[in-house]
Amino acid sequence: MTQNGGAFITLEGIDGCGKSTQAEYLREWLAVFCGLPAIRTFEPGGWSGGALLRRLLLDEKNAIAPDTELLLFLADRSAHLDSVISPALSEGKWVVCERYTDSTLAYQSFGRGIGLDRIESFLNVCKFREPDLTIFLDIEVSLAEARLRERGKLDRIESSEGGGFMSKVAHGYRELAKRHVERIVTVDARGDALSVGVRVREAVTRRFGVAETRQS
Ligand code: TYD
Repeated sequence: MTQNGGAFITLEGIDGCGKSTQAEYLREWLAVFCGLPAIRTFEPGGWSGGALLRRLLLDEKNAIAPDTELLLFLADRSAHLDSVISPALSEGKWVVCERYTDSTLAYQSFGRGIGLDRIESFLNVCKFREPDLTIFLDIEVSLAEARLRERGKLDRIESSEGGGFMSKVAHGYRELAKRHVERIVTVDARGDALSVGVRVREAVTRRFGVAETRQS
């Protein structure tokens, strides 16, 4: 938790893992049932100028070289952190953020094959703040892909490099969870969204000891 009483929680996982639904459930639970000031935000693009950058990154018509893609994600994070995340944390808010640095490591390194050392050297320059807790929503690639097919069109990154890409990203997340056991909590993201939501809340309660002021 921050000195001002809030906390920075990131939600991570492969495309189709249910992140957006869980981020909204969590924000709502913190705000309504725990009486805490909470916001939900996302990457890429969760800041005032971010829609343009998000379109640039995700539009399948844009061919973007791996290094350029990496630097655009970092630029997006820098603006998002400065204009949304840090101000909210300074005001004592709880910030629930869909995707953050673990996405860059899982997608650009494990997925695209940019060396971890290379990405980490960029990250060392950027000095982005660490989340207080990261929830990794773990799900089989085949299940996540079935959900995405139901949803319709895939974006540029979701349709990357054929079927193997998402398996590499999923493997990357599991590796990251092993390397950062103190920060990353793995939550089983299979099954219905409400049950996954209960698991997410349990992880948050275990970490921060938040208590419900109203029965959920
Ligand atoms: P997301 O917003 O989760 O997609 P959607 O809500 O449309 O399902 O993420 C967009 C894509 O950006 C996703 O495929 C992961 C990718 N991404 C990276 O490759 N690196 C990053 O650092 C971030 C933040 C996202």
